[in-house]
Amino acid sequence: MAEVRADSRGEARQSFFAKQQLTDKARTAFQQLSAVVKNTSLYPEGHPSVLISAEKLLSTVRELLVDRKEAAFYLVGGELFFETLSVSVDQSLSLLMEQLAGMDIGGIAYKPGLTQEELVRLAALLNRDAASIAARGGIQEAAAAEQIAHVELHRVLLVDQRAGGDIKKGKKKASELFLEAVETVKELVQAVHLDKAASMRRMNSVVQAMVDTVLENRDALMGLTSIKMYDEYTFAHSVNTSILATALGTFLSFEKPQVAALGVAGLLHDIGKVKVPHEIINKPGKPTEEEWEAIKRHPVEGALLLSDIPGISRIAMVAAFEHHQHDNERGYPKAEGPLRQHLFSQVIALCDAYDALTAARVYYSVQTPPDHAVRILLKQRGTTFHAILVKAFVNMVGLFPIGTVLKLDTGELGLVTHQTHDLMRPRVLLLRTFDGTEQDQVSLLETSGGRYKRSAVGAVNPHTAKIDIKQYLD
Ligand SMILES: [Fe+2]
Ligand SMILES: [Fe+2]
Repeated sequence: MAEVRADSRGEARQSFFAKQQLTDKARTAFQQLSAVVKNTSLYPEGHPSVLISAEKLLSTVRELLVDRKEAAFYLVGGELFFETLSVSVDQSLSLLMEQLAGMDIGGIAYKPGLTQEELVRLAALLNRDAASIAARGGIQEAAAAEQIAHVELHRVLLVDQRAGGDIKKGKKKASELFLEAVETVKELVQAVHLDKAASMRRMNSVVQAMVDTVLENRDALMGLTSIKMYDEYTFAHSVNTSILATALGTFLSFEKPQVAALGVAGLLHDIGKVKVPHEIINKPGKPTEEEWEAIKRHPVEGALLLSDIPGISRIAMVAAFEHHQHDNERGYPKAEGPLRQHLFSQVIALCDAYDALTAARVYYSVQTPPDHAVRILLKQRGTTFHAILVKAFVNMVGLFPIGTVLKLDTGELGLVTHQTHDLMRPRVLLLRTFDGTEQDQVSLLETSGGRYKRSAVGAVNPHTAKIDIKQYLD
């Protein structure tokens, strides 16, 4: 097992760094394009400043083209992407982004064979006003006339509509999976109650499908975790923990079998609760000392139950046993010797805590809004929770997770529906103007005249504001 752990971490680290390097290089290329465009607007085409900046851009683009047929950038809703990777850009680049959007350019693909002269001609073209480009029949025709053969310019797609369609499609699939997973956990718990060996095949296929969905559309599944089920708390909690753990594993670039193992571990981490009397688990308010001792047995009971189920991954058993051991003071069961929680148990512990905080339980009058839960986890990084995992988790769910209601500086209210590369600037659904169409999906990254159109000034508790999030996220 130690070997598996080292491998998965090694691979994850490698692919994480590779992605990081690629996005850094892509960002550099975009900054260099901005420099060429700026220099071309200030100096004549043969000026050394123009030529040097074009040469720099050319060399970065050539590096990007080493192992690909084209180096393609896309602009979507105020965000920059290199292929499918989100590239963070600061406000200094927003003018170029707007300039491109104003010319109806939604994508730039550089091709092998590109020359410095072509880049200078491209920059000159980008400095023309939109009307003169339109007079030449559009940007693609103008680029062809300028003999810019190794740069392909794409029109702005109707991205918002397309993304909206995808979200809806993804949600339906994700919510079906959610229900299916709840059913599977129920069946498994019943099987355990009846002391029968449970079939793992169905469970594995559900988790596999979850992994696939997370890889396809993490936001859709993440959105689901904000729709809590008000009854059947442990089931819903198990599924949510599994979804979050699967998403975090994917975010950390773990290999697919590892992500699937995390999914199973998340679904089963609290299975030991079936051995704790029902009245204690569902008791409103604080448990007595005696009741607390019974609750604290669930990790041990869980590990014992799972050791009896054929075909279960050992990781699930380890995670069930270790998921409350996070600190030696209050953690349980007590660790003998120095505490060494398996990395996967630490992932489960973190996702478990986040879900427990944000869950709406019948007997809790106030549920912690998602952004508060994130802040609580941040406070415990490096103590209760693994500091790097917390950081990755927050990067994944955002400082304002999906389901958070934000007050904007425009006076509008926005419900967070997607994350972007900027933790402070998610995509939101404007609630006041919401009329069931997709035009109200806006990104807080959108700029106008080099300034952000909208910024979040704070989060609003949806319960106090009497906003039913479910109707928007369903
Ligand atoms: Fe637990
Ligand atoms: Fe739990």
